[in-house]
Amino acid sequence: MKKTLEEHASRFDDVAGEYDDSQNDTEEYRACVSLVVDHANPGPEDTVADLGTGTGAIALALAEDAGEVVGRDISEGMMERAREKAAEQGIENVEFGEGRFREPNVEAADVVVSNFAMHHLSDDEKVEAIEAIAELGPRKFVLGDVMFFGEPNPDEPFYSPEVDDPSTVGHLADALTDAGFALTAVEKVHEQVGVLVAERGDVE
Ligand SMILES: C[S@@+](CC[C@H](N)C(=O)[O-])C[C@H]1O[C@@H](n2cnc3c(N)ncnc32)[C@H](O)[C@@H]1O
Repeated sequence: MKKTLEEHASRFDDVAGEYDDSQNDTEEYRACVSLVVDHANPGPEDTVADLGTGTGAIALALAEDAGEVVGRDISEGMMERAREKAAEQGIENVEFGEGRFREPNVEAADVVVSNFAMHHLSDDEKVEAIEAIAELGPRKFVLGDVMFFGEPNPDEPFYSPEVDDPSTVGHLADALTDAGFALTAVEKVHEQVGVLVAERGDVE
């Protein structure tokens, strides 16, 4: 990781108030949110875990269809905004609390989602995070994020080399299959942005 967890948390605490407006300006971000929500497609009995939930864009969008949603993040400022939005929208089956990719602080989940957050971890840390996600026992993991479909180009948008550490799609696919998932969909939103859907046949 290029920055410590505390530095990432503090950076997001500082921008929590403006985060939604700034992100929603980006067509690729909106496309990822939509694809992650569509692919997650939880049922009314499902527990969904949203890791790196931020201000709850994905968690809140899935709450209507899911049984319950737990959002986990390292930035209390981002989650405070998520809680405000849940209250404004009258959503009661969602809970936000501290948790990190490699220690999600979630007992179990039927569906795990994550959007625009895992790219803060190094390649090795993403492998550990995906192993931790597999241990939650989900039948499906939907990952929307900055990821390289071609050669990494630090001059392009969608990531800041000083704070972000995106992986290649190949690295993510290997980590997912090593953790027991089968990759069932790959959605390329941009040369550096995509959504991966990983499923496990051994989970009902
Ligand atoms: C760009 S925001 C994305 C938020 C949300 N998922 C969305 O789609 O709008 C990235 C979030 O990841 C969180 N984050 C960064 N590193 C993390 C880690 N190791 N574990 C959990 N959350 C992390 C940050 O605090 C931030 O809220």
